[in-house]
Amino acid sequence: MQITLGGITLRNPVVLAAGTSGVIGEISDAIDLRELGAITTKSITAEPRDGNQPIRMADLPKGMINAIGLANGGIADFATNYAPKSKRIDTTIIGSIAGDSIESYVQVAKVMNDLEGIDLVEINVSCPNTSDGLEFGSCPTKLSELLREIKPTLQTTPMIVKLSAACGDIRPHADAAIKAGADALTLINTIPAMAIDVETKKPLITRGIGGLSGPAIHPIAVRVVHEVYRDVARNANIPIIGTGGILHWEDAAEFILAGATAIGIGTASFINPSISIKIAKKLSAWVKRQGCRSITDLIGQVH
Ligand SMILES: Cc1cc2nc3c(=O)[nH]c(=O)nc-3n(C[C@H](O)[C@H](O)[C@H](O)COP(=O)(O)O)c2cc1C
Repeated sequence: MQITLGGITLRNPVVLAAGTSGVIGEISDAIDLRELGAITTKSITAEPRDGNQPIRMADLPKGMINAIGLANGGIADFATNYAPKSKRIDTTIIGSIAGDSIESYVQVAKVMNDLEGIDLVEINVSCPNTSDGLEFGSCPTKLSELLREIKPTLQTTPMIVKLSAACGDIRPHADAAIKAGADALTLINTIPAMAIDVETKKPLITRGIGGLSGPAIHPIAVRVVHEVYRDVARNANIPIIGTGGILHWEDAAEFILAGATAIGIGTASFINPSISIKIAKKLSAWVKRQGCRSITDLIGQVH
C-alpha cells in the first residue's frame, strides 16, 4: 500500500484533507493516525484570521456547505503552539498554506519549510470562501508567478499544489503548476455553491455562498483527476491526491483508477472520524483481490 509523493514515502495512499481533521491532527483523539498515509494541517496564513461570521457550515442531503474563511491563528501561532505536536504524530504531515499576496504565501512557506515534522507543503490556491481565495488558482499565469516565488523557499520540502475545479477545465492550471515546480497536485477543493432555507428565505450559511463538499462533488472530482492525469500529470510523472466526496472505499478506488496516486478524505470524517481507517483497510483488500502486488499497479487503469 506504500506510495510516494515528491520523494516522500507514505504508508498507504489515504490522506486526511486540509481543514477537516483539526489544525494539526487533533482528530488523533479519536483515531490512530499510524493507520493513515498522511494528514494535512488546516491552511495557515501569515496573519491570524477570524474567518467568516457564523453560521459557517450546514448539512446538505448529499454533502455539506461551508464558508469557514480560513480561520486560523497565523503562522507564528502555528509554529509555537501546533507544530511541536508533530512529534506525537506518527504519520506523514502535510503543512497547508494560504495567502492573499505573493509575499504572504512566501512568508508562510519559509517558516513551514523550516519546521521540524512538516514533511510536505501544500499550497492552497483554491479556497472559495475568502474574497481573494481563488485569485491565484483561477489564472494559470498568476499561479505560475506565485509558485515560482514559493518554490525556492521550499528548499527541503516537496511542494503540493491544491487546485479548484471552479473554472471547469483545469488542465492549463495543472500544467502551469507542474512547470513552476509542483511535486504533486491535490485535486480538488470545495466547489462554490449556495443553499437556501425556504422558510426563513435566507441562505443556510451567513456568507450566502460557500464551498460544497462531500458525495455531491465526487463525480466532478473523478472527472478532473481523469483529465489532468491523462493530459498533463502522467507524462510529467507528477502524482495526484484525488480529493472530493469520498464516503466509501469504492469512491477512493475510483480515484486510483482515474489516475490518482493518493486519495484525500474530508467531509466523511465529520460523519465518522474513523472512516478513513476503514477505507484504507478496504482499499488494501481490493488491491489483493485484483491480484496486484502494489496499489501503484492500479493507478490510471481506467485509461
Ligand atoms: C469544514 C471544511 C474546512 C476546510 N478547510 C480547508 C482548508 O483550510 N484548506 C484547504 O485547502 N481545504 C479546506 N477544505 C477542503 C477540503 O480539504 C477538501 O478539499 C474538500 O472538502 C473536498 O473533499 P471532501 O468532499 O472529502 O470533503 C475544507 C473543507 C471543509 C468541509
